Amino acid sequence: MNVVVGITGGIAAYKAVSVVRALVLAGHDVHVVATENALRFVGRPTLEAISRNTVHSDLYEGVAEVRHVAIGQAADLIVVAPATANTIAKLASGLADDLLGNTILASTAPVVIAPAMHTEMWQNPATVANIATLRGRGITVVGPASGQLTGRDSGPGRMSEPDDIVAAALSITRPQDLAGRRITISAGGTREPLDPVRFIGNRSSGRQGVALAEAAAARGAAVTLVTANLEIAAPRGVTIQKVSTTLELEATMAAASTDADVVIMAAAVADYRPETVAEGKIKKETQGDVLDLRLVKNPDILHGLVERRPVGQIIVGFAAETEEDPEALLALARGKVARKGCDLLVVNRVGWSEGFATEGNEVVIIDRAGDIVGEASGSKRSVADHVLDLIARPY
Ligand code: PMT
Repeated sequence: MNVVVGITGGIAAYKAVSVVRALVLAGHDVHVVATENALRFVGRPTLEAISRNTVHSDLYEGVAEVRHVAIGQAADLIVVAPATANTIAKLASGLADDLLGNTILASTAPVVIAPAMHTEMWQNPATVANIATLRGRGITVVGPASGQLTGRDSGPGRMSEPDDIVAAALSITRPQDLAGRRITISAGGTREPLDPVRFIGNRSSGRQGVALAEAAAARGAAVTLVTANLEIAAPRGVTIQKVSTTLELEATMAAASTDADVVIMAAAVADYRPETVAEGKIKKETQGDVLDLRLVKNPDILHGLVERRPVGQIIVGFAAETEEDPEALLALARGKVARKGCDLLVVNRVGWSEGFATEGNEVVIIDRAGDIVGEASGSKRSVADHVLDLIARPY
């Protein structure tokens, strides 16, 4: 595959060398288009040696061969890593004031960007709007991860690891091995209201469910994503049905899964809900020092879906467990798959900083008999592809 790697002017440009190398080692013909600022951070000889091709950066080089559009026209895939806030803004505006901008505008290939910047810049409304615009145009955004940044600060904004960028980039050009399959996925966390302003909820961001939906759609599936209070933007190209409470999720999943070939329950579901929901705001003046809440059990949606499933439907559950010992974790998961009766159970350890709301995940996948049929770690997108691999072909 002809892959263009766009490198822009941020310190994470040094990690772009690893992106180029991984793509070359995977057998692709890699052409680097670097901005002038990128070449202040990483040397042209390094990129040429690693990519085994000439590095292009000047809009006015190769004019006779119309290079400003030729590179983009020939590309099968474009990966921009790192993508600075400035480059993201230019892409969102469709600017073509350098070779990379021209290359991207002149291309019909899928584009993947890996943002890298300081947290304030990533969270700035201008960048948030630009990212939404790019996602809306079908551009795949990988990361950023959260962690140590260039200075002493840390937070969201760190470029995703090169392997994750490459995995995400290659997965969007995957064969359409789920074409013709209808997949219903739940994502996010349910909220159980106490009164008009408060709820009992959980820390699910919806990232894992959204990654599953994006990956399944990229592999040709017709996807319905039932979202419960997502913290991130819903993906394009899939049918979205929004819910909030467990009872709403149950009703919507029941309806959305009747004609599905595959159902995946990635949502984090409240096992209990308040017995009564107050009409008005609960006031501390009337409650005193202690507030007693009476909770009643919610239905087990996954179990219900398994009991009522049409013949041939594959049902996948997730298990979120805080157990640290791997053997004990597996034992809990085996008990859960036996109780729920689903075909596959994706087991992830969760905790204060694991599983929920993170960019990455680490899972073991077991079948109905409790046997391990897969293991995956990395970005939630790469975990999603591992799960879908097991669905796409017999395990
Ligand atoms: O959204 P993210 O921030 O990316 O985080 C991802 C995740 C950690 C939420 C996700 O990977 C995950 O583990 N989702 C399932 C969370 C959960 O509810 O786990 P559980 O072990 O409590 O439930 C087991 C299975 O039964 C799950 O498929 C769940 O959707 C389902 N369930 C649970 C309770 C209930 N009343 N009804 C259900 O259907």
